[in-house]
Amino acid sequence: MEGNLMSEPVDPTTTPAWGRLTALYEALQPDLRGWFAADSSRAKSFTFQAGDLLVDFSKNLINADILSALVDLADQVGLADRRDAMLAGERINVTEDRAVLHTALRAPEGSSLVVDGVDVIPEVHSVLNKMYAFANKVRSGEWIGATGKPIATVVNIGIGGSDLGPVMVYEALQPYVKPGLTARFISNIDPTDVAEKTKDLDPETTLFIVASKTFTTLETLTNARLARAWLLDGLRASGAIEEGDEAANAAVAKHFVAVSTALDKVAAFGIDPENAFGFWDWVGGRYSVDSAIGTSVAVTIGPENFADFLAGFHAIDRHFAETEFSSNVPALMGLLNVWYANFFEAATHAVLPYSQYLHRFPAYLQQLTMESNGKRVRYDGSPVTTETGEVFWGEPGTNGQHAFYQLIHQGTRMIPCDFIAVANPAHPLVDGGNDVHELFLANFFAQTAALAFGKTAEEVRAEGTADAIVPARVFPGNRPTTSIMASELSPRVLGELIALYEHITFTEGVVWGIDSFDQWGVELGKQLALQIHPAVAGDEDALAKQDSSTQSLITYYRSQRN
Ligand code: F6P
Repeated sequence: MEGNLMSEPVDPTTTPAWGRLTALYEALQPDLRGWFAADSSRAKSFTFQAGDLLVDFSKNLINADILSALVDLADQVGLADRRDAMLAGERINVTEDRAVLHTALRAPEGSSLVVDGVDVIPEVHSVLNKMYAFANKVRSGEWIGATGKPIATVVNIGIGGSDLGPVMVYEALQPYVKPGLTARFISNIDPTDVAEKTKDLDPETTLFIVASKTFTTLETLTNARLARAWLLDGLRASGAIEEGDEAANAAVAKHFVAVSTALDKVAAFGIDPENAFGFWDWVGGRYSVDSAIGTSVAVTIGPENFADFLAGFHAIDRHFAETEFSSNVPALMGLLNVWYANFFEAATHAVLPYSQYLHRFPAYLQQLTMESNGKRVRYDGSPVTTETGEVFWGEPGTNGQHAFYQLIHQGTRMIPCDFIAVANPAHPLVDGGNDVHELFLANFFAQTAALAFGKTAEEVRAEGTADAIVPARVFPGNRPTTSIMASELSPRVLGELIALYEHITFTEGVVWGIDSFDQWGVELGKQLALQIHPAVAGDEDALAKQDSSTQSLITYYRSQRN
């Protein structure tokens, strides 16, 4: 059975593979200790390579039969056809009637992909080259502010995909950031965000990048106006610029650039279209860090490193496109997530980077995975036929160990975890003769072993533990983990990691039959906020139209506000 491309999704629960997986699940007696003892090649058999990433699946609740049934499921829901349709630029985002082509953003110069009669690859590279030229000007000091000073701080103003990707990558690639150049990120409409992020900045050396795909987002446009006012007030207060529109416009031109698909709206905001970087409606916000939305990253780490970052994405794109599913790492990870979400009813999935530089990676993945797959209808409008969209969460190790690992080890819920680590630290520090990175990685290896193999009552008792306390000290084990390792956290490896999770998310969405590229679920709250705002601002008629809970909360707010 092959999946039908656009007209109707295959119901995964009706496939023969689903029936087989159900039987395998019912017969399964998880026993990672026994499985490893019985098969000395288990780690080897279940370890795969994708680009520079080594991925060990062996501590999952799988065997060869389960993996092959999962691969059959991929075949029977038409994963290959859907993947190829995406890569070819078909309009698989049906509810927005758009192609889904983030993979084109990292296709090498000279390749070609024609969408609606236009080869998009030269366009992608023309914007990249414009962004690189701008980045070089800022980095070299050729780009100067209104008073002739070079730029020391770039401030990205954006939210969601126009923030989470750039901030995560900027944090992850700190060792590659040019000394003397820093980036900050303003996202929240809470005025605290703009106030705190600008309070110690010098307007003369600050450059704002307003990043918004639509250039209509309330938070971003409000923050951009606040930033413009902060800039002009600061420059005027120090006498750096004259009063009046002409001086203001000239200053804005030197201190504001924009990234958007809506260049007309950029111009209406007062930013010179010369200083704007475009992208396309076929790039989803949460898939856009490798477009000009990454301008703050390109400025701070430099064009060469940014190009390496894109090359990493591309390596995983090729792996996903060309590798058979039985050793296709993103496909297998997506299928494993389905195995846990739908058969074991795991509602959440932890991503635990043993790399402080990846401390924003779980937050980034929350938008990527949950905005993509948090859906209750399929792409033809019919209801989904099984659970979708796990909650993704996590913190860097070892911080998480001292916080929530208790629940992962001994709680009642199954939480599949991805552990991520690199062999070479950016800072090889030594403490008392110990390489501290080795202590750190010992924790990574220890945790995945403890989760897999646990500790039996006999082992606890053998340590002299009193009988009454033994149950509390038993670790059941058989808690599934996937370990992802690379040599170092380079721009290329980071690009590979992001692309890996993009394609994992895609694979899950295909199995569930959903459109992983729309996000209608964020709209209602946006509309209501605009409707409620007059009531908050004191309009009694608007207040009277609200439900009683909302009325009473707003009344409390108004009574307390100074
Ligand atoms: O509200 C959700 C969303 O549309 C995200 O998908 C997107 O990344 C974010 O808002 C920001 O949108 P924009 O880049 O258009 O400002």
